[in-house]
Amino acid sequence: MNMKPLIVVLLDALLAATAVGDTAAKADKPSTWTRPAAKNPHDNPKLNTAGTWTPDPSQLLGEYEEPPPPRDTNAYFMTDNNTVVTVQVGMTADLRCQVFDVAEHETVSWIRRRDHHLITVGAATYSNDERFQVTYSENSQDWTLHVRYAQPRDAGVYECQLSAHPPIGVYTTLNVIEAKAEIEGESEIYVQTGSSVQLTCKLKDFTEPPTYVFWFHAEHMVNYDSNKRIAVSSGDGVSELRISKVTKQDSGNYTCQPANARPASVSLHVITGETPAAMQRASATEIQYRVSLALISTLVALIAL
Ligand SMILES: *[C@@H]1O[C@H](CO)[C@@H](O)[C@H](O)[C@H]1NC(C)=O
Ligand SMILES: *[C@@H]1O[C@H](CO)[C@@H](O)[C@H](O)[C@H]1NC(C)=O
Repeated sequence: MNMKPLIVVLLDALLAATAVGDTAAKADKPSTWTRPAAKNPHDNPKLNTAGTWTPDPSQLLGEYEEPPPPRDTNAYFMTDNNTVVTVQVGMTADLRCQVFDVAEHETVSWIRRRDHHLITVGAATYSNDERFQVTYSENSQDWTLHVRYAQPRDAGVYECQLSAHPPIGVYTTLNVIEAKAEIEGESEIYVQTGSSVQLTCKLKDFTEPPTYVFWFHAEHMVNYDSNKRIAVSSGDGVSELRISKVTKQDSGNYTCQPANARPASVSLHVITGETPAAMQRASATEIQYRVSLALISTLVALIAL
């Protein structure tokens, strides 16, 4: 039996149905919107003497909105609106604001949006916070706000506002991140007397490489130590501490402290005779001892029943 004609018939029927659906949809909705026909001009009080038609807002589709009054200024911003500036804790954030053709009677101010705190007006700083300062560059018509020693609480939206009527401004979001140090490897390090140790400290989440990285052995800074066995080399957000021929006295806490970042510490154990494997065996024995204790107390409890 040949099925082909039947399938063709079915397909044709399906196509026809779709076509009918389409035409129905077209009939429902006019493809273009036509303005309602004007009423007889003689009935309409809004027709002025010159005979031009003033549309009645109620006759137009949608909400009618008053156009905003024109802003009485020639000034215009060249700085992008709604940008983000990211700075590391302790560093200086520069929020730029380039505005051209500012008139004599107009001023450029910086405002913190969170609490509407007025920071600067023109070149003057209003804020009591001395970390805020504005610099004006005549060449680039730029009023940059500097936030020195940025703190997490400085994060938020800042507005560079022009005193036009109504005022207008560009917004900058300040992001303050905390850089942190991380020492690679385990936090407890076991080494044999006489061997050498290398600690690598990497800075995370930083926007600028640190101006310095200090290493401490307990409370004692070792960067410039007279001890020739200790060497520190830093650069590009990484710092390395090398100790050669370690002795028992080198044991203890080592801290990597980069400028403007959270420090990191490791504990160094210098051992003689016993190997690190022996030390691990020791702690394994301790665990076994505890397990046996638990077993014994369970047994005792069972016997008591
Ligand atoms: C910048 O964006 C804000 C909304 O985020 C707006 O209110 C303001 O008018 C914009 N400024 C300019 C100059 O376009
Ligand atoms: C190491 O020293 C630093 C700074 O003195 C301290 O904050 C940290 O808790 C110490 N770490 C250890 C493991 O003792």
